[in-house]
Amino acid sequence: MDKKYKVAVAGATGAVGREMLKTLYERNFPVSEVIPLASARSAGNAVPFGDEELTVRELKEDSFAGIDLALFSAGGSVSEKFAPCAAHSGCVVIDNSSAWRMDPRCPLVVPEVNAQALRDQKGIIANPNCSTIQMVVVLKPILDAAGLERVVVSTYQAVSGTGQKGIEELERQVRDLFNGRDTENSVYPHRIAFNILPHIDVFLENEYTREEMKMVNETRKILSMPDLRVTATCARVPVFYGHSESVNVETARKLTARDCRALLARAPGVRVIDNPAENLYPLAIDAAGEDDTFVGRIREDESIENGLNMWIVADNLRKGAALNAVQIAEELVKMDLVRVPDRNVFMD
Ligand code: A2P
Repeated sequence: MDKKYKVAVAGATGAVGREMLKTLYERNFPVSEVIPLASARSAGNAVPFGDEELTVRELKEDSFAGIDLALFSAGGSVSEKFAPCAAHSGCVVIDNSSAWRMDPRCPLVVPEVNAQALRDQKGIIANPNCSTIQMVVVLKPILDAAGLERVVVSTYQAVSGTGQKGIEELERQVRDLFNGRDTENSVYPHRIAFNILPHIDVFLENEYTREEMKMVNETRKILSMPDLRVTATCARVPVFYGHSESVNVETARKLTARDCRALLARAPGVRVIDNPAENLYPLAIDAAGEDDTFVGRIREDESIENGLNMWIVADNLRKGAALNAVQIAEELVKMDLVRVPDRNVFMD
């Protein structure tokens, strides 16, 4: 009989955590038991898993005894503290926060791009940033076909990337504005309704935001190209679900727009929607709830020798978070890697 796994979801009451439970169920991941974990505030509440309701337990250091796999999406500080406890208990962690992504002990994985990196897993595997995931799924086939010289990306990111509180802030502000009331912002530094904020995560010393530098550093790590020239501008837009990106790619060898379309049409996890004559291109409202990464508006950059422009859209809670994490879990099962080789690696 096929093996079944005891799986915990840490942050199970959050926007990504709920999507993780839904994705595990929908993809029929081989579970013997699912344990939803969250803060003490939610302990005893119910979360849906298919037709069942599961009771949320408080996340504690000893929550992971006897658990095979844990999907984490409860924020960086929670992951920093509890992921090592889980690995120490022999539970393999797939972590959606940014806490472990650049740690050399942790593979940073998008299964369509670098599943082989899982062979080096030491108990904590990092799920990349949502905007990075959807971009590298498209960059990888281009890299393999024509080489990559430089990437310039601008993002248009949905409020669900900030979690449930981002969704609630946009909803509340839209309602207040339509009712002639003043708006308040508590999640974002400015009003997000009917506005665009060129600011995601905190500003760093180099004047970029941390989100922008995540895109630079994570893209290099996932593609194993530490010197790849990448630059990013990340903006928050008043969209509930689905991140959009304008991506300019400079390749080493010429790749025509036509060849690029054909190449991407065959790429795993990618769907090309590119028929401007009929106003067909990827849209956040169409990507929401879908698993694929959508790409369109593919055209040659006429300002350089070997360049392409494109528009990439994906559901940030699915491919950008929950789905990618579950796909990593599926790869671990396929590769027979659901085990912690040395329980002390993260106990420093
Ligand atoms: P809770 O609902 O009990 O606060 P989102 O990203 O949508 O804001 O969700 C964050 C998730 O992380 C929620 O499930 C939240 O649980 C959980 N969480 C936040 N802080 C903690 C903590 N200190 N310990 C455990 N879970 C936490």
